[in-house]
Parts: sequence; structure tokens; C-alpha cells
Amino acid sequence: MPNRNEISSIADSSRGSQEKELETKMSQLGLYGRQKETKAIRKCLDDLVNTGNNKLVYISGISGTGKTALAATVADPIVKNNGIFDMGKFDQKLRDEPYAGIAAAGRHICGEILHRKNSSEDMDVEDIRKMIINNVGPELPTLAMILPEIEDIVGSSDLLLAQEDIAGGDYGANKERLNHAIRTFFRSVATFFKPLAMVLDDIQWADLTSINLIQVLMTDESISNFMLIALYRSNEVDQTHVVTKMIETLDEKQKDYNFDTTKIEIGNLKMKQVDEILVELLQLPSYRTLRLVRDYPPQDWGQCLLCVKFYRHAQESTPYCVLEGGKVLGMGRKRH
Ligand SMILES: Nc1ncnc2c1ncn2[C@@H]1O[C@H](COP(=O)(O)OP(=O)(O)O)[C@@H](O)[C@H]1O
Ligand SMILES: [Mg+2]
Repeated sequence: MPNRNEISSIADSSRGSQEKELETKMSQLGLYGRQKETKAIRKCLDDLVNTGNNKLVYISGISGTGKTALAATVADPIVKNNGIFDMGKFDQKLRDEPYAGIAAAGRHICGEILHRKNSSEDMDVEDIRKMIINNVGPELPTLAMILPEIEDIVGSSDLLLAQEDIAGGDYGANKERLNHAIRTFFRSVATFFKPLAMVLDDIQWADLTSINLIQVLMTDESISNFMLIALYRSNEVDQTHVVTKMIETLDEKQKDYNFDTTKIEIGNLKMKQVDEILVELLQLPSYRTLRLVRDYPPQDWGQCLLCVKFYRHAQESTPYCVLEGGKVLGMGRKRH
């Protein structure tokens, strides 16, 4: 027979898997109550497709409000248009690693090119290869320093073997060269895949080189059909944060360069919307899910991830069972 510790660890692991299941279910729900925000980002995409003029979109809000989910709403229309929608995420633990989020986005682009090479007859990788080799030129080994996957596209030419060229992998000393290499890589990709959208998630944790590169990319006059969607946690970015400074600088610069900016702030959901989400997720009638929502302060309702807490709460709370005329309703259990 399992002892107490074993029982509680079994309970914990089943709770963990229930939460995972719930998170997966949540990600498949679609967005409730975000019509205005969805329309705003969709409009940016339509403008981009119609004019080719670059777009910079900021999506801000606290953790769990649906920033990533909102950015992802443009993925389908972009891919249907034969464009690329790619994502790179900054990590609090990798804060000191230069270009981490952007390298992740670059990896995604390389993967996408190779994937399409295998699945689409009309994509000529040879053309892309030539374009990248031409544009990035002698800085290919520099690019390969943060994006080794580039070798899968351009092949292991002599250029790539010349990596010792870079002063001992010193990013600081080679910042200009790296910026040039990345910028010309993006130029090349944006010529073939229209539009090219890059989501940079959690830029409040971006390293300074990446923050600087965002400015380099947005002010590159040879990139077009490009949309950068930058996501950040508003409660972690104060007036002195580098992200605030970057936004101010780019606000100034957009007058003189070929891009315009849209800022989307994600706020709280309404109680009714959270209730609708819970009804769908927990398969409980609304009068019961509403009770769960009311126990939390309104400023928490925007945080969809809190649904997991609501869920736990539903599992753990029993008082309502007694309230219902002594009839045990099995609060929190799904109806089958
Ligand atoms: N308006 C919404 N309606 C339904 N589900 C949502 C909504 N907003 C977010 N979600 C879900 O909540 C979870 C957290 O959202 P996410 O986009 O990761 O938040 P953030 O990026 O702001 O931390 C995801 O599973 C997402 O699909
Ligand atoms: Mg997110």
C-alpha cells in the first residue's frame, strides 16, 4: 500500500497532468473578449500585405493575459499568404546571452525554409541560398556564430569553415558585424517570403544586443514586407527599463523610416468572459463557475492562466455542495 508521501506525490502528479491537459485545452479555445485587439493586429497585417511598408507592433499586458495568444492569431493568414510567421522568446535565465531570442527566431526561419523545400514544389531553395550568400556575403561565418543552422541552407561552404575569423567568439567586439549579418539575413528572407513576421516574446528579458538589433532591423531601409511583433510584461517595464527607452527612440525614428507602430495593451477580461471560458473548460453550468470567478479580484480576471487556479479551486472547494439543499453536487467534477 502506498504511504502518505507516495499518495500525496501521486495526487500532485495527477494534478500536474490535469493542469497540463487544461492548458492544452485552453490554448485550443480561441480568444474570448479580444475582438478589438484581434482587429487591431489584423489591420496591421492587412496594411503590410497591401503596402509592403514595415510594421512594428507592441503587445503589452501582465503575464497570462493572452499576449502570445493574440500574436499567434496572425500566424494562419500569414502562412496562407506564403509568408513566414516565426517566434523567438527571451528567457529570464538567458538574460546575459546575446541575441538569444532572435537566434531562436532565426532557427525557426531556417527550419521553415527547409520544411517548405521538402513540401512545396515551387519553392526554389537554390534562389534563397544564392540570395543569402550574396547579401550576407563575407559575414556568413559571423551569422553562423549565433545561427549555426544557416549551414543547412547555404551548405558547408568554405565561408562557414572560416569561423575562427571572429575574434575568439567575442560578441562585443563583433557587434557591428553580427548586426550586419543578421540584418542582411532578414533582408534576404523577406524578399522571398511576404510577409515575414517575427514575434519576439518577453522582450522585458532581452539582452542589450537584441534591443539594439530590434532598432537596427526597424531602421534598415532595405527590408520591406516585415512585421516585428514585440511582446512584454507591462508590470515589469518601468520608465527606466531599456524597453521603455527603446520604444521612445523608435517612436521618434518612425517619422524618418519606412515603418509605423501600433501599440496594443491587453487589459482585464470581463467577468462574463472569464465565466464563458470556465464553462467551456470545466463543463460546469455558469451559476457554479461564476461563484469561482467572484472569489478573485477583478484585476486577476484578465489573466487567463488563472483559469488553472480557478480549476484547482473548483476541485478543492466543497461548501457549495452543502448549500445546494444538502445535495452533493461534486463541485469541480466534470459532467459526463
Ligand atoms: N481571451 C482569451 N480567451 C481564451 N483563452 C485565452 C485568452 N487569452 C489567453 N488565453 C489562454 O490563456 C493562456 C495564457 O495566455 P498567453 O497568451 O500565454 O498569455 P501571456 O503571453 O500574456 O503570458 C493560453 O493558454 C491562452 O491560449
Ligand atoms: Mg507569453
